[in-house]
Amino acid sequence: MAWQICLIILLAARSSLGLTSSTSERITSAIESLQKDFNATRSDVAEGGPVFTKMLDSGLWSQPNEKKILIAQIISKYVQMLNNITKTPAPQYIKELREALEDYKKNYNESLMKANDLIHLAQLPMDNLRTQRKAVLEMTRVLQEVKKEESRRRRRSQRQNPRGLKRRMPNMG
Ligand SMILES: *[C@@H]1O[C@H](CO)[C@@H](O)[C@H](O)[C@H]1NC(C)=O
Ligand SMILES: *[C@@H]1O[C@H](CO)[C@@H](O)[C@H](O)[C@H]1NC(C)=O
Ligand SMILES: *[C@@H]1O[C@H](CO)[C@@H](O)[C@H](O)[C@H]1NC(C)=O
Repeated sequence: MAWQICLIILLAARSSLGLTSSTSERITSAIESLQKDFNATRSDVAEGGPVFTKMLDSGLWSQPNEKKILIAQIISKYVQMLNNITKTPAPQYIKELREALEDYKKNYNESLMKANDLIHLAQLPMDNLRTQRKAVLEMTRVLQEVKKEESRRRRRSQRQNPRGLKRRMPNMG
């Protein structure tokens, strides 16, 4: 009986692999077509460094939840770019990429809203008197939140290092 179970597992694995690889093959070839359209593999494109991949590789966004925020924002930039390609009729590969990215964007909705919060914060006009007065009013509440976060962090590090005994253990958290 064991060989039958093996066969079933093998077949299941093969068909699920087949499914993902055909989708990802289509995406890969869509990306290749887009790169041709934009002459993206020519050497002049490298001038000034990458736009996204440097951030992805920086190590600054090592926590999965944080990285999701970054990825969500990058996906939304690609959607913006693809939606603005006005070639008519839109080539099939552009439609496919749009669809795929819109799907991803839905899955990253919450992270995208977090990214939007950050963007909104970065754009706050702190030289505006009305904004300044609101900020001053909200300061107490914000500092309460800072304190809460600090004590949460202390508790976490105490849990991970009870009395410093396990300091040499690898961090499993
Ligand atoms: C790509 O190169 C071709 C041929 O040189 C040119 O006609 C086209 O405008 C270029 N496209 C872009 C987006 O630079
Ligand atoms: C979309 O394209 C138009 C015309 O080329 C341009 O003016 C506009 O800034 C673009 N918008 C985005 C979000 O790229
Ligand atoms: C995310 O989902 C919420 C509710 O499900 C919706 O109101 C909001 O517009 C979505 N945000 C984005 C950026 O898609």
